[in-house]
Amino acid sequence: MHPGVLHRRFLNDLSTSLFSFVLPLLPTSEELNVKEEVRGLIEKLIKTLEPSARLLSFGSSCNSFGLRNSDMDLVVLIDDPNATIEPGNFVESMASLLERETNFNVKPLPRARIPILKLELAPSPALPFGIACDIGIENRLAIENTRLLLTYATIDPARVRTLVLFLKVWSKRRRINSPYRGTLSSYGFTLMVLYYLVHVKQPPVLPNLQRIMPMRPMEEEEVMLEGRNVYFFDDVETLRREWSSVNFESVGELLIDFFRFFSHDFQFNNSVLSLRAGQLTKESKGWVNDIDVGGLNEMARDRNRLCIEDPFEISYNVARTVTKDGLYTIRGEFMRATRILTQRPDRAVLALAELCR
Ligand code: GTP
Ligand code: MG
Repeated sequence: MHPGVLHRRFLNDLSTSLFSFVLPLLPTSEELNVKEEVRGLIEKLIKTLEPSARLLSFGSSCNSFGLRNSDMDLVVLIDDPNATIEPGNFVESMASLLERETNFNVKPLPRARIPILKLELAPSPALPFGIACDIGIENRLAIENTRLLLTYATIDPARVRTLVLFLKVWSKRRRINSPYRGTLSSYGFTLMVLYYLVHVKQPPVLPNLQRIMPMRPMEEEEVMLEGRNVYFFDDVETLRREWSSVNFESVGELLIDFFRFFSHDFQFNNSVLSLRAGQLTKESKGWVNDIDVGGLNEMARDRNRLCIEDPFEISYNVARTVTKDGLYTIRGEFMRATRILTQRPDRAVLALAELCR
């Protein structure tokens, strides 16, 4: 058979295999129901401390990129403008309350840069993996970036969700999704995929939601929250009607090309990935990584090895946790993935298994 035909067959096979790979890893409706019950219960308790408090989910439980047994990200929002609440103290009050009233293992971190409360429920027959949950205070930007990610997913769920979910599983299995151990958070990997689909791929698979302003093309739309412009085009109905991608590549082709781009083409040394503005230079952001003062500045240097601009907190490098070794490992994994997927393996399903081994 002609090699081109074989390759085409492999790509079709790869796309089908990606869908089947991801499907059984999605959370069950039972798991989602239990988590929603837990959220409601904790919210009720927190209202006894501050009646105007609400408890909202963010992160993967509501951006459509959730996997089975992933942890819960929750945030307390206080609606009463007259309530004077200091986040660290509120974390401490919540900790004593939940310790008293629930079975959760409670660990408050009131003096962290962003004060949070960590909760854990040990595994039980009904919840074989238990529950892990972080509660933050008043982090409204997280709600907005969760909505941004969800809106991107909604535009083209078959390709966007499949790619992101696969990348999350792959990065966890290959142990490069550990911000505490020098690699990248799920949020960082998700931003990389979206950046690729908006700015790298030509024609693009996704529009830049932070730049679409169809009604008033000349005006820069601004919606301010905590001093940041959090505007993005979130009218999915209009998008569906008026925007469609002319990129028809399959999810398998996109995956291979994603790995290839980040193996060979992206200039990690001097570039910044910005979902908002495309490729930027580290220099233009002041995120240079070679302020080497006789080795004293190893920490500062390591903060900007990999640069991913947060969509709204644009002075914030989402990949600041990635160390020199971490980046070396991540790039090695991109290369390994490219190799596995382009060496024309016969069966896509085996290639995916090998990829996530
Ligand atoms: P899993 O927990 O692995 O399923 O993925 P996740 O989508 O929940 O991602 P993660 O736990 O990394 O982050 C959860 C949410 O926290 C993200 O959706 C963001 O809203 C927010 N977040 C995480 N990391 C950062 C960060 O570095 N900066 C900002 N601004 N927000 C972050
Ligand atoms: Mg999470």
